[in-house]
Order: sequence, then structure tokens, then C-alpha cells
Amino acid sequence: MNQGNKLLNVEKLNVCYGKLAVVFDVSVNINAGEVVFLVGRNGAGKTTLLRTIAGFLQPASGEIEFNGKNLNKTGAYKTARMGLKYIHQDKQVFGDLTIRENLELSSYATKDYDWDPVFKMFPKLNTIIERKAGNLSGGEKQMLLIAMAMIGKPALVMLDEPTEGLAPHVIKDLAAIFKEISRTTTLFIVEQNLPLIASIADRVYCMKEGKVVNEITTREQISSMHFEQYL
Ligand SMILES: Nc1ncnc2c1ncn2[C@@H]1O[C@H](COP(=O)(O)OP(=O)(O)O)[C@@H](O)[C@H]1O
Ligand SMILES: [Mg+2]
Repeated sequence: MNQGNKLLNVEKLNVCYGKLAVVFDVSVNINAGEVVFLVGRNGAGKTTLLRTIAGFLQPASGEIEFNGKNLNKTGAYKTARMGLKYIHQDKQVFGDLTIRENLELSSYATKDYDWDPVFKMFPKLNTIIERKAGNLSGGEKQMLLIAMAMIGKPALVMLDEPTEGLAPHVIKDLAAIFKEISRTTTLFIVEQNLPLIASIADRVYCMKEGKVVNEITTREQISSMHFEQYL
């Protein structure tokens, strides 16, 4: 579903850790309603790019625009409040808190106390709601993180390798969930799982050594996993 309405616009972004430059002149556009993937080998700069867009890192140069507003110096907390959520690669939840308490944190932050949509998406979370998040499986943690991100009805959710370390049947469930989420929410996902990408991608950006080196836009090239060479 490409509505042709630019939601995120990243122009010539450069990001450094101290003196070490790791992202070079990266430009990325995401339209409202799209499911866009980012692929590339370990160390390509994918996480750095997403963390910069989300406001955890300051770019050395370049522009980040979300919903028509400049995000360069916004900071992560405010960026999330503006409707751009980022789910980190390391699947960190508040382990000593229950699922309910983790969800409450998202509700406090966003003033959205309507949990029906997330329980519709993840009925299991509701059945184990008093369980400590630290005791959940990798798949359950990922579902909790997605549920927490969806509270507040964000416009864009960015996920960093959400299927990493998960069992194949859980990955299948997640693919269906991404499809469902994409009916209301734009998705930008770093992913290595080729069949998952091929099944739901509208577009795929390919990163190599800190640069975007290709953008795959045709259904034919996506279905034939044309992006495999960048992994
Ligand atoms: N906190 C950091 N400090 C210094 N260098 C880092 C830091 N995080 C990542 N890097 C380096 O930046 C490069 C890109 O890393 P990263 O964005 O994590 O890539 P990817 O997510 O594609 O695997 C790598 O060379 C990595 O070693
Ligand atoms: Mg990474």
C-alpha cells in the first residue's frame, strides 16, 4: 500500500563515532503505508542509521525529516512522542517488571491506555500478563516490544533485526503480524531473513560499508530475492 505521501525523508546523512565515520551520505525516503526493509552485512551501519533517525545519535551532517518536521536535534524521547518508534536490536525489556507493568510504561509515556488493539494482535500477552518480562522467550519479548511500540498509535515503527535468534514458527507469526500492522502503520525493518523480506516488502534498501548501494523497488526483483547479494 503505497500512498505516495512522504513520511520520513533522510538526506545525505553522515554519522560518526568520535573520529570514526560509519554512515556516509545516506538518503532514504519512506512513504506513508509502505513496508520498507534495510539489508546489509554485519557492520554495514544499519543500526547506526536507525539509531540516528530515532534520535539516539546526532548526525555529523545531513537532514532527517519526519512528517514534515526536522528531527536532527530532537532526541529519542521526543521523537517517540512524535510517533516515530524504534525497537532496538537487543530485545531489551524491563525484566523485573511484568508484561502489564511494561505496557503501563508505554501508556504513561503516550497517554494511550487503550490496550485492545495490541491484545487483538498478541492475545497470548494478555493470558500471561502478570509474568515477569525477564522470563519470556525471545519471541514473547519481541511481541511485547512491538506491543509497547504500538501503544500511542505511532505513524512509523522501525525494527532492528526483529527475527534474530527466533524459531522459524515464531518468524512466520511475526510476518503475519507485520502484515497486519502495515494496514495502519508504516514499517522500516532491518532484516536478514530473505523469505520474510520477499513476502512482505514494498521496497528494499541495500547498505554496504556505510553507504546505500542499491534500492530494490520492483515486485519481481523482491520476489526473486535480488537483495541476497548484499547479505
Ligand atoms: N558505539 C560504537 N562505538 C564505536 N563504533 C561503533 C559503535 N557501534 C557500532 N560501531 C561501528 O560502526 C560500524 C557500523 O555498526 P552497526 O551500525 O552496528 O552496523 P550493523 O547494524 O549494520 O551491523 C561497525 O564498524 C561498528 O563496529
Ligand atoms: Mg545492527
